[in-house]
Amino acid sequence: MVALSGKTALVTGAASGIGEGMAIRLAESGANLALCDLQETIHDVAGRIAEETGAQIHADAVDVRDPDQIFEFVDGANSHFSGLDIVIANAGIWRSTDPVEDTQEKTVADWDLLVDTNLKGVFLTGRAAIPHLVANGDGFILNIATDHICPPPGFATGGGTRMDVYDASKWGINGLTQSWAKRLVGDSIRVNAFCMDATDSAMIRYASAKFNREMSQEVTNMWMKPNQIADLMLELYDEGPDGRSGENIGIWLNHPIELPPKREVLPSRHP
Ligand SMILES: NC(=O)c1ccc[n+]([C@@H]2O[C@H](COP(=O)([O-])OP(=O)(O)OC[C@H]3O[C@@H](n4cnc5c(N)ncnc54)[C@H](O)[C@@H]3O)[C@@H](O)[C@H]2O)c1
Repeated sequence: MVALSGKTALVTGAASGIGEGMAIRLAESGANLALCDLQETIHDVAGRIAEETGAQIHADAVDVRDPDQIFEFVDGANSHFSGLDIVIANAGIWRSTDPVEDTQEKTVADWDLLVDTNLKGVFLTGRAAIPHLVANGDGFILNIATDHICPPPGFATGGGTRMDVYDASKWGINGLTQSWAKRLVGDSIRVNAFCMDATDSAMIRYASAKFNREMSQEVTNMWMKPNQIADLMLELYDEGPDGRSGENIGIWLNHPIELPPKREVLPSRHP
């Protein structure tokens, strides 16, 4: 087990699914936690994790779309624990969108909801945290994207035919991951993204129901579990200061849940 005693980890969207799974594993590894979510149930989740693991937890209901809320939360967590080491920008939302059938009203509302949550939320979380990580002397940022941008070998990129806005929001995360990794390499801060396939959560169950996909126990048992994704996050963290940065890491059904070989680091064409 990775030893995180004395480290502080911040997770957005931690009240359920993958974020909650990350929070549990981080707490079990000894980290102090800063947990936030749009849902007030974040306080119950934090209370339960603290009781089960003994972790110190600073939790609050926060909307990652709102700059004042997320900056205040990140700054508060940094002050509370006198530093910040790990940031998991996980909060996200999924909606079915259709470029053929959607009304103008739905088109605009979906764009605002999905892009503001999935992309602006990751952007604001990272921007609020980065100055603290730099001051700390090192850091680890993990953005949560999707297998749509990093599919298993032999498959085309992209999600389904009714996911244009979700995919655009997640593709944008790629720009942040690449750019932050380059900017922060000299500050010993690593930035990567997880691009996972179906993982059991409220979101995948909602999406599957929306598309009338089969959700028998046989199917849901095949989905990956949040604790497996969290274990891989700890493995990635454990690579240490010389570990990979700027990578989209695919995690796929019917494939081993493991880190791929490190990519060769190519020179940048831009300063
Ligand atoms: N489950 C999957 O199969 C899957 C696959 C690929 C990527 N993802 C990504 O994983 C991340 C976690 O999703 P999940 O599957 O655990 O779903 P989930 O719905 O269980 O968790 C998402 C959490 O984010 C929170 N959230 C939503 N909007 C927010 C906001 N504005 N501010 C703060 N918190 C907010 C929700 O309240 C919820 O607790 C998402 O970014 C999602 O896109 C999930």
